[in-house]
Amino acid sequence: MNTAVYGSALLALFILSGCGGESRTASDESLDTKLREKISGFGVKGDPSLNRDIPSIEDAKTQLGKKLFYTKALSLDFDTACVSCHHPLLGGGDDLSFPIGSEAMDPNLLGPGRMHQDTGKSYFDGGPTVPRNAPSTFNAALFDVGMFWDNRVESKTGAAGANGGLATNILMPGHSDYERVESVVNNLPSTQALFPITSAEEMRAFGHADLSNGDAVRLYLAKRLSGADGNRDLSESEREAWLQAFRTGLNAPDANASELITIENIAEAIGEYERSQLFVNTPWKAYVEGDSTAISEKAKQGALLFYSGYEEGGANCVQCHSGDFFTDEALHVMAVPQIGRGKNHDGSTEDYGRANITLQDADKYKFRTAPLLNVSSTGPWGHSGAFTSLRNVVKHMLNPDESTQNYNPYSELKQRGIDVQCQDVETNTAHALAQLVINRQKGISPHQSVAFSEEQIDQIVAFLETLSDPCVEDRNCLSPWIAHPDDPDFLLLRQLNATFQRF
Ligand code: HEC
Ligand code: HEC
Repeated sequence: MNTAVYGSALLALFILSGCGGESRTASDESLDTKLREKISGFGVKGDPSLNRDIPSIEDAKTQLGKKLFYTKALSLDFDTACVSCHHPLLGGGDDLSFPIGSEAMDPNLLGPGRMHQDTGKSYFDGGPTVPRNAPSTFNAALFDVGMFWDNRVESKTGAAGANGGLATNILMPGHSDYERVESVVNNLPSTQALFPITSAEEMRAFGHADLSNGDAVRLYLAKRLSGADGNRDLSESEREAWLQAFRTGLNAPDANASELITIENIAEAIGEYERSQLFVNTPWKAYVEGDSTAISEKAKQGALLFYSGYEEGGANCVQCHSGDFFTDEALHVMAVPQIGRGKNHDGSTEDYGRANITLQDADKYKFRTAPLLNVSSTGPWGHSGAFTSLRNVVKHMLNPDESTQNYNPYSELKQRGIDVQCQDVETNTAHALAQLVINRQKGISPHQSVAFSEEQIDQIVAFLETLSDPCVEDRNCLSPWIAHPDDPDFLLLRQLNATFQRF
């Protein structure tokens, strides 16, 4: 029996049995059948955390990591914490195209409205100094291949479910982004945590010329918290509070400060806190696990486009956004508009992506496929935060050729109060698009541009909206991951007291 005949037979059955308004129609059923067939062909299971070791936010080490994630004491000038750019109430990011780290006008104000001091010590060229959008820390436990937009912290094997595995299995930048060295800590998120504290624009700030490289900064910060080598940046009661936090967190009640408060332990505890931020209970997961009423018909149509190949009139998003984490963790050129001050070795405003690491022309403008869980809460989107509307980034993914032609920094950014450098956007983006065209010709890029109707675009957006865990929009649900001023150690640990213009 073909689907159409099967469909009308079912419809007849519904009419005969007098099914009322609540019931699902035959066309729903055939859509479900098609979609379920499709996703089972791609091995989609619903729960990306299956067979993974995920710490609880209640674990002692996770709690220590939370204190470290919120402390301004890990920035040399005491003005920035990890959470300045990765707040749970802002989708694990900061709601900005580019983050503001060191030298913010009001260090406690996160999200929209956060700006640089105009009298800062560093050169801001009229906009943010950090050249890339801050990705969400949510679901950091689900990466197996690499972290950062260019995978510069990466696993040697990418073993499924290992989150990078042991330190000896992980490569990271040494004294420059392209020098590769073995990690000193286990798993990808902990390794990643070694870097923001050494970045001048993010947390290190621009003074302290005596600290001549990243390792010197890391060692200095560990000594700040432990008081080793006579470091007295913190008061005695602050140092005592840290010692107690490390003793409890690492279950070592008798250990002394310099044994416990090391850069390795700092990074591993932060990594555990991030790894505990698992937010995967999405309507889509409920659908995949069998509840056909969990998502709307429109979203199902969108899913079908997402999972269908070009030859079937689909959008073929799944070729890159694959698996239950919606990423192949591989690097592709997608020519997302290049705004901001750029990341490169030549002082331009270009961002060469993966080529900054490998120094290979073939890797120019390649970025890691972004995972799509909770995507409706993690804007602005793209490595440059060039899109402030989810619909527009979807249009870009469908057809970068057209989207880059129509890209308007004024309506996309400035009108929404986001003030970033856009002077070279057309030239920079044209270079990235030209690379995409070359990669297609050479058969390196599987991407094809497709023309979709407005209705189809809405369907894809509706599908993407089902990939969000309701917890990430719920202050109560997120509360365990947030440092609260009523914690007796809040001030002693120099926790960032976050304020928001919107909340
Ligand atoms: C000034 C803002 C800022 C601060 C402060 C900051 N980050 Fe980030 N974070 C970013 C940006 C920007 C990126 C992306 C950089 C890139 O890919 O080149 C990033 C990337 C990450 C990633 C990688 C996510 C992914 O999808 O691969 C993690 C995890 C992360 N940060 C955690 C931290 C931790 C832990 C700290 C504190 C030690 C921290 N961040 C401090 C802005 C910030
Ligand atoms: C050829 C691989 C590829 C295909 C096909 C593809 N994407 Fe992407 N996607 C990427 C890469 C790479 C990025 C990150 C690009 C960047 O920021 O420079 C990305 C980013 C995104 C983002 C932004 C996420 C964020 O957090 O910033 C969304 C949303 C998205 N893709 C949705 C889609 C949809 C929907 C489709 C199908 C219409 C699709 N993508 C097709 C590779 C792909």
